[in-house]
Amino acid sequence: MLIVANWKAYVEDIRKAKSLLATSKKLARTSDITIVLAPPVPFLGVLAANNKSKIAFAAQDVSATTGGAQTGEATAQAYAAAGATYVIIGHSERRALGETNAIIAEKLAHALAHGLTPILCVGEHERDGEGRYLAYVREEITLALEPLTAKERSQVIVAYEPLWAIGKTAADAIESNDLAEMTLYIRKVLAELLPGKSSRHSFVLYGGSVEPGNIRALAADSGVEGFLIGHATIDPFTFSALVKQLT
Ligand code: 13P
Repeated sequence: MLIVANWKAYVEDIRKAKSLLATSKKLARTSDITIVLAPPVPFLGVLAANNKSKIAFAAQDVSATTGGAQTGEATAQAYAAAGATYVIIGHSERRALGETNAIIAEKLAHALAHGLTPILCVGEHERDGEGRYLAYVREEITLALEPLTAKERSQVIVAYEPLWAIGKTAADAIESNDLAEMTLYIRKVLAELLPGKSSRHSFVLYGGSVEPGNIRALAADSGVEGFLIGHATIDPFTFSALVKQLT
């Protein structure tokens, strides 16, 4: 199982960031879970420097450029040099600022070119009774992956994060049977985009109000390989409880 802790912009203090890293290191020593921390940009390089633990690091986003005269951009190459091995791409909070599927496809290509494993976020705004949300998720995955080679497509992790479930409480998260259905559907879409049986190795994650009270139920029989978690990862006690629920 993989737990990706998306600190978003919740962590604004290096001492807090370091204390969360210390907690994560302790958890990683006693658990089989792969823990990936996604800190805000100014902290990533500091935390990842000389990292000898099992903790991996993710960028929360990446530039669609390859560098040069681009004030404010942080490229895939720079993130890789700073110690990131994963990158979150297409998060709904970035899409809300105007990020299109075409930009997302470019970001995926840059990330892969520099050895970063992309975590592609997809998810509908709301659930309708006619199943249009399925077509929406299919389109997000297809438009992002189609420009990539078969080998590149197989390296992308898909994180299903329905917008209606983000930033709420466990009671508002998806039910495990609905998650199982969506995981199967995403696997079907991936199987269409990947040759042969290679999509069987693709990772599918869930994100949206995952908390200690629901993570175990969501993990059981839903077919996901892990979780992309926001608010429940920024308190050391809650984060420990989350990881322990899965071990
Ligand atoms: P919450 O866990 O705070 O709902 O956030 C989910 C998310 O957006 C992770 O990327």
